[in-house]
Amino acid sequence: MYTVPKLEDYSPEALDRAVADLRRALAEEEASISSQADWKAFRDRWLARKNGILTQLNNLWLKPCPADLKRTIGQIINTLRPEIEHFVTHGQSRDEDIRTVIDSLSKDALAADRLDITLPGIQRPIGVKHPVLRVMDEIVAVFKAMGYSVGEGPEVETDYYNFESLNFPPDHPARDTQDTLFIAGQESKPARDRLLLRTHTSPVQIRTMEQQPPPVRIVIPGKVHRNDPLDATHSPVFHQVEGLAVDTNITFCDLKGTLDHAMKALFGSSVKTRFYPSFFPFTEPSADMQVSCIFCGGKGCRKCKFSGWIELLGCGMVDPNVFDFVKHNGYDSSKISGFAFGMGVERIAILKYEVEEIQLFYEGDVRFLEQFA
Ligand code: DAH
Repeated sequence: MYTVPKLEDYSPEALDRAVADLRRALAEEEASISSQADWKAFRDRWLARKNGILTQLNNLWLKPCPADLKRTIGQIINTLRPEIEHFVTHGQSRDEDIRTVIDSLSKDALAADRLDITLPGIQRPIGVKHPVLRVMDEIVAVFKAMGYSVGEGPEVETDYYNFESLNFPPDHPARDTQDTLFIAGQESKPARDRLLLRTHTSPVQIRTMEQQPPPVRIVIPGKVHRNDPLDATHSPVFHQVEGLAVDTNITFCDLKGTLDHAMKALFGSSVKTRFYPSFFPFTEPSADMQVSCIFCGGKGCRKCKFSGWIELLGCGMVDPNVFDFVKHNGYDSSKISGFAFGMGVERIAILKYEVEEIQLFYEGDVRFLEQFA
């Protein structure tokens, strides 16, 4: 640590050396300042009135020196004074720079200290598929595994595709089974061109056959609309998966085998199927397919109304009249045959997940939805 020496040799070289020693000490000490306390000690050491280095210069260099050198020594001290003052001022800002860095570091360090690992973590839940979409994808996957492709069609459909080409003649009472929502202001158009919200996914059967000649194996998932009042099992908007297989020599056996396999894949291998006569304009013969009750295994319970069976979908052999609408594209009903089926996705989801009300699927209540996560 630098101490002010007594001057014995007053030669210019000796004086220069003494001044250089002091300057070096001043610069070194200033450079080592790293805190407010360091700076205060530095300031007091050099500038304290009572025994600071500047005061000592007066006492040790100026006062005892020979009278003829008073002027020279006085000038030396006068040049050193502002230098010392400059270093003291500079030393303070240096301390401030360091302090801001240290402050920010210690804030981070404090924040890190505040981490309480006993608190529960922050949950960032990632979304999952909606149960309706999940069941729809599951159904599609079962048919994809059997070599089916996947098709789509518009939700706003013409009367032609939704009804006429599916063998619902105009004013046929079968139309009444599908309470239809029509687009307003279509009266000036020919009946077959009038727009409506499709009531089933079956129109995509015709659209597909218009696009590709046989053979066809396709499933069509999609949204459909009906003017049905909302109740526990009905919603004006719901989803269906349609299926269509057309080739030479397709029989009712193929239909039964395909759907029986699909139901076992969806509900488990112990499930049985049976086919009950029904009517749809676009299939002949038509059937309703039932599965053995997945709740009681067929013994009879409240869910199956004590019948042991649950009705799940409509199906049948494609009516030749339907093929006639796409005859030009290779669908000659004397050479080819096919089967079709259509199932409600919500209905299957309700059974699979034992959901009490269809409404729950559409309310978007996370307490309901997160049960499927
Ligand atoms: N489209 C019918 C409905 O929504 C369901 C249906 C029945 C589709 C028989 C078919 C079928 O493809 O062959 O009620």
